[in-house]
Amino acid sequence: MTIELKMLSLKQLTSQKADLVLIPVQDGKLSLSAFRTLDNAHNQALSKALASGLLGSACGDSLLLPALDAPGCMHSLLVNLGDKKSLNRKTYQKACQRLVTKLLELNVSHVINALPLVKVHGINFAWTVRDCLGELSRQHYQFTELKSDKTPRALTSVTTLFDTKAQQTALKTALKEQRAFDSGNALTRYLGDLPGNICTPTYLAEHAKKMAKQHSKLTTNVLDEAQMKKLGMGALLSVSQGSKQPAKLIVMEYQGARSKKSEPIVFVGKGITFDTGGISLKPSNAMLSMKYDMQGGATVFGLMQAIAEYNLPLNVVGVVAAAENFPAETATKPSDVVTSLSGQTIEITNTDAEGRLVLCDALTYVKKFNPAEVIDIATLTGAVITALGHSYTGVWGRDNKQIAELLKAGERASDEAWQLPLSDDYADMLQSDTADMINSHKQNPVAGSSVAACFLAKFTKDYRWMHCDIAGVASESGRLRATGRPLNLFFDYLLGKVSKR
Ligand code: BES
Ligand code: MN
Ligand code: ZN
Repeated sequence: MTIELKMLSLKQLTSQKADLVLIPVQDGKLSLSAFRTLDNAHNQALSKALASGLLGSACGDSLLLPALDAPGCMHSLLVNLGDKKSLNRKTYQKACQRLVTKLLELNVSHVINALPLVKVHGINFAWTVRDCLGELSRQHYQFTELKSDKTPRALTSVTTLFDTKAQQTALKTALKEQRAFDSGNALTRYLGDLPGNICTPTYLAEHAKKMAKQHSKLTTNVLDEAQMKKLGMGALLSVSQGSKQPAKLIVMEYQGARSKKSEPIVFVGKGITFDTGGISLKPSNAMLSMKYDMQGGATVFGLMQAIAEYNLPLNVVGVVAAAENFPAETATKPSDVVTSLSGQTIEITNTDAEGRLVLCDALTYVKKFNPAEVIDIATLTGAVITALGHSYTGVWGRDNKQIAELLKAGERASDEAWQLPLSDDYADMLQSDTADMINSHKQNPVAGSSVAACFLAKFTKDYRWMHCDIAGVASESGRLRATGRPLNLFFDYLLGKVSKR
């Protein structure tokens, strides 16, 4: 369950029923006049509490006060946001992070939030709202599906306050964006957190069909193995051939633009629902987190859900290449050669480099949509974690304007990406003695992520294209938990095409 997001004028604060109101404190004082008025009406209860020194001095420290004898009878949580002068986005986000942890410990269900009314240097009111609510939904999410105890969190709704007319307008838009994002984000994380014995290619395909039933602008079409074979998707099918779970190519079309003919933005997600490595088997410690090898696909699912809820006025196609990578007598062997949908032949030197094999056929397939641009999203290489850790999505492409636009969206949404090079030096490492190319270079992991990108580049010559390697950002390091990244990056990238940001 996501949190219900509401809005309210500051003037109506005391007429509202809630359990708790979040009140900002800056420079050791109540920084909003409305709360000074409230304070005066209640015998200085708030300022007396501040004078007690019980509120810690660090940004994000908070102090719970019992209900004021006021209409609504709300408890208050005083939240220290440090000095007015030095409150920037980073410190604000940190404060929100600490505050939300505290808030979720309290047994409250309805909260009124005045924090975004403070000025955070470097961002506007809308982002001040979204940063706070984003942190709330990030920590609020829990994966209880497979626990006996499925008790939901106490917190169910948050009402954000506005003061001016301009804030009211901005808040309305911010909440619309946040609701759509939260819904998509919960789906991305849920699909990732589901283990591979439940979340199979067939499960994903069924889920895509369900989504199409819920949203009138969304249609789903699923290609099965027989259809893929007929088309000639030899690369994709070589990955699933050792598994009892049949591969699925899941195609979700969202028509948001007025014209059906308006060229769509196409997202292609890697949907390996479990990656054992195949015959080039992974060691067990490296295999444990491989249920997340479909997070590229899960990001595409979340994105389709978010844009359908937002009612985005663009045409968007989401394709998920779903398969399981398993060893078996029937599995692909190292040195096997397959023919891809593009006609190019591939010598499979390592069956663990399977992501590029499912993606290359999906990337050839999407030409039929006459795309405005194509973006693939994949947990493609361990090497991207070596390069960028868990902080940035790695991005490759040929169009620097397109890449700059994506990097900017990442900064806005605090879901950042970093460009890495596509170079002939790396492409040269893919030469094969037997076929048109190999899928994994001998020198791996040297420049492993860029070599993988160069492999995909051979299949994406006919349109504007970017490749995003999310192996580092999609799940938490050292824990089995999906982050939902980089959904916010792509959602904001799309919003940037239809609204000023
Ligand atoms: N799914 C993995 C990449 C991965 C590794 C994602 C760690 C998340 C965390 C991918 O299929 C893979 O196995 N890549 C190989 C490529 C190599 C064989 C060229 C890798 O990174 O070692
Ligand atoms: Mn692999
Ligand atoms: Zn993989």
